[in-house]
This record gives sequence, structure tokens and C-alpha cells, in this order.
Amino acid sequence: MSALKLRLKGKVALVTGASRGIGAAIARAFAREGARVVVNYRSSEAEAKDVVRSITSSGGSAISIQADVAQPAQVARMFDAISKRFHRLDVLVNCAGVADGSIWNAELSEITPDMWQRVLSVDVVGGFLCDQRAATLMKKGGSMINISSTPVLVGDEQGLVYACAKAAVLTKTKMLARILAPSIRVNCMILGSIETGWVDWLTPETLRSYTSSISLKRLGKPEEVASVAVFFASDESSYITGESIVVDGGDVLD
Ligand SMILES: NC(=O)c1ccc[n+]([C@@H]2O[C@H](COP(=O)([O-])OP(=O)(O)OC[C@H]3O[C@@H](n4cnc5c(N)ncnc54)[C@H](OP(=O)(O)O)[C@@H]3O)[C@@H](O)[C@H]2O)c1
Repeated sequence: MSALKLRLKGKVALVTGASRGIGAAIARAFAREGARVVVNYRSSEAEAKDVVRSITSSGGSAISIQADVAQPAQVARMFDAISKRFHRLDVLVNCAGVADGSIWNAELSEITPDMWQRVLSVDVVGGFLCDQRAATLMKKGGSMINISSTPVLVGDEQGLVYACAKAAVLTKTKMLARILAPSIRVNCMILGSIETGWVDWLTPETLRSYTSSISLKRLGKPEEVASVAVFFASDESSYITGESIVVDGGDVLD
């Protein structure tokens, strides 16, 4: 661990959906900055435990807690456990999201109510359930961080259900920023194409075409999202609430 200034020292942070991908990178970055981190997962227990192990073996502090964020009773159980163990929560990152190629690739005529239900119940309602519980546990200075996606800014030919859910996340960010001010700040990262599991759905041609349209000519790395999350979690962003940072390598330049 670095002996330089730790930007999240003393803070307790919950990262939902942290068993892999962006959430895992955020959990590791938070721990490197001195936070005690709760690594939430739904079903990937082994991966979540690997994330915790990688943090603790480098001197950081982390535990994992299983909870499906779409299930109110499981969310309540997770927050009760956090409250009992830490008596506080300083940072919440709502990272849990449904990544399902069949929903993303569905043609208009193929989209079903069940697809809406699956995505909204996790990305929107699940995030909200965590916000609601976190709001009661966070003291002055708390920070909530949401994750949206660039199609909410410029549209896309694919991923309609997903994009609409992420639009709700963006609106929720602004609503909660007002509702929870001045105690708790609420911000959002609007992500472009970040290199996680979903890349496996793409053919090499599709991947090439995605990449060529990005100004920086490459996908983003989860660690490059994590550094923005550290900024929003830390006091370095103490005068920012209800805002979004687009992390997309200059893809949409909106
Ligand atoms: N990657 C991108 O390019 C990109 C772009 C824009 C936005 N985003 C958003 O960024 C977030 C992370 O994306 P990612 O690519 O890192 O995703 P990922 O690799 O698919 O990981 C998703 C994580 O969410 C967890 N999860 C799923 N459903 C859950 C539930 N009901 N309760 C608790 N945890 C749940 C998964 O845990 P289990 O395996 O245990 O279920 C996993 O840890 C998502 O919200 C995604 O929509 C990603």
C-alpha cells in the first residue's frame, strides 16, 4: 500500500456488483486509497472472495457480502450487516447491473416485458433500494455514485431496454442529489465501452468498428473508471453533486 496521502482513509465503502469487471476494479482502488470495502455480489462467490483476497493480501481491508440487490429483504440484510460491523457507511457505488447479450441484441420485435423487468429490477430498483438504505446509514459527507451509459446521451441502435434503465439512473442521480443535499453528494459516471465480460459477445469485426469510432481508439479499462470513482468518493469532489462525468475515451463528445 502506498504511504502517500490516502484519499479514502477512514471511510467505509460498499460497492455493489463488485465480484468482477468495473465493480472489482473500484473495490481494489478504494482499498488502495485506505477505505474499508464491502464487496457485494449476487452469485459469483468465488470471484468476490478473490477480490477480497487480492485486497487483503496487499494490506487493504475488505469483506464480501452476498445480496441480490433486486431483493428488498437481501438488501436489508446486507445493510444490517454493514451497520452492525462498521456502524457507518461513507460511500455507495451502485455498480450491479444486468449484462445479458440476448437483451442487448434483441430486435425491437423481440423485446419482452420480462426483459424490462429483469433489467429495471436490478439497475434501477436495486440501485434505489441500496440508496434508500444507505441514506439512513450515511452521515454528513457521504457520497453515492451511480453508473449510467453513453446511449442515454446520443442513442444507439441496440440495447434499448438497457439504455432506458440507465437513463433512469441518471435522473435518479439528479433527484437524489437534491433530496439528500446538503448531507450526501450523489454523482454519476456515464461510461462508454469498458473492457469487461460483455466484449466476449462481440465479433472481431464489431469490436474493430466500436474501437475505430472512439477518439482514443481503444476500449476503456475498469481501472480508468475506478480512478473517477475515487474522485467522486473522496473529498476532492466535495463541491460536486448531481453531476456526471463521461468516461468514454471521447466516443460521444457530447
Ligand atoms: N462495461 C461497460 O462497457 C459498461 C458501459 C456502461 C455501463 N456499464 C455499467 O457498469 C456496471 C458494471 O459493468 P461491468 O461491465 O463491470 O459488469 P459485469 O462484468 O457484468 O459485472 C456485473 C456485476 O454485477 C453483479 N450483479 C448482477 N446482478 C446483480 C444483482 N442482482 N445483485 C448484486 N449484484 C449483481 C455481478 O455479480 P454476480 O456475478 O455475482 O451476479 C457482477 O459482479 C453495470 O451497471 C453496467 O451496466 C458498463
